[in-house]
Amino acid sequence: MRLFIFLLFTLFLLSSLEDESIGATSHSLKFGEHGEKKADLSIGKDVYERTCASCHNLGISGAIKINDKEAWKKHIHHGIDHMVESVIRGKGAMPARGGNPNLTDEEIEAAVHYIIKQAQ
Ligand code: HEC
Repeated sequence: MRLFIFLLFTLFLLSSLEDESIGATSHSLKFGEHGEKKADLSIGKDVYERTCASCHNLGISGAIKINDKEAWKKHIHHGIDHMVESVIRGKGAMPARGGNPNLTDEEIEAAVHYIIKQAQ
């Protein structure tokens, strides 16, 4: 828990530094701003690595492994909305929002996009 708070704090510091930098070099990761597709995936990667990788990298507690394309195909078949919904609510051994209640729906959607991208 302490590590988590530390990480949040670090992120907060980093984002406030970014806001202060001037002009073209500062780029925001927020949605709806420049290069949405790219931002989407970089947020997704970030969220995935911070919250989801602990289970999905190695397939802990029956989680589908990130690189198990065949297994993901079945889920992708049900549609991304369904996948996002399952993560938000939690499913089986997966806690709601992957165990991080601070994640927004958009961040979860971005992480699911990232997973789908890796499974293609
Ligand atoms: C505590 C381990 C754990 C964490 C952390 C975790 N997952 Fe999962 N995830 C699982 C397990 C286990 C399943 C399989 C659930 C089942 O079908 O019973 C699963 C299933 C899924 C599915 C398929 C759901 C469906 O119905 O199609 C998606 C998508 C997914 N996880 C995404 C994520 C994302 C995104 C995160 C991070 C925000 C995340 N998971 C964090 C364990 C985890």
